[in-house]
Amino acid sequence: MSLGLTEHRKEDREQRLAEIREALGSRSIVLIGLMGAGKTAVGRRLASRLDLPFIDADAEIEEAAGSNISEIFAEHGEAYFRQGERKVIARLLKSGPQVLATGGGAYMNAETRANIKAHGISVWLRAELKVLLKRVNRRDNRPLLAGDDHEAVMKKLMAERYPVYAEADVTVESRDVPHDTIVGTVVDALADKLGCAKKPAKDQSREKV
Ligand code: S3P
Repeated sequence: MSLGLTEHRKEDREQRLAEIREALGSRSIVLIGLMGAGKTAVGRRLASRLDLPFIDADAEIEEAAGSNISEIFAEHGEAYFRQGERKVIARLLKSGPQVLATGGGAYMNAETRANIKAHGISVWLRAELKVLLKRVNRRDNRPLLAGDDHEAVMKKLMAERYPVYAEADVTVESRDVPHDTIVGTVVDALADKLGCAKKPAKDQSREKV
């Protein structure tokens, strides 16, 4: 049988994704990062590329509580939300492999960090303030950003959280480019971290089989 170049590349790509899945075993890919880093949007696409389930921890917390995050914060306070977040993520991590997007504060909890280390591979979607602000200003469903000064809040969170996020297994810069481009970078970084095949070169010429 003779395969054209495009088919070869497709095969190489599929092979690489299969290698990543294999290397993961039952571990989850856990996306961490600040609000607006693209954890949900990138996570959904990453899961689809790897043919893994996508789970959004915030949505699971809302489902378990029977109310949305703003309501949980308003009715019970942040500490109550954090307790639920910790428990829900511990439960979800038992169901890998999957792509798990976590809320921006989740990784700040030491127990959650240890659980992620034990059952997953963490990917920090790191983003510049400008990119984050552009994205978070589009929606108003985040209790930590209920006030007007988004920039001051985000700067404070960056200062507190970036040194902790830096403990993640893999860091990928979430730039202001299409989400699929970031997904490609995440796949490359994961392949590298997990010791999988190198990315098939674009201009690689190969003989037909
Ligand atoms: C939070 C981030 C939110 C959500 C909650 C608190 C945070 O998730 O969990 O509003 O502490 O940064 P996203 O990061 O998905 O917006």
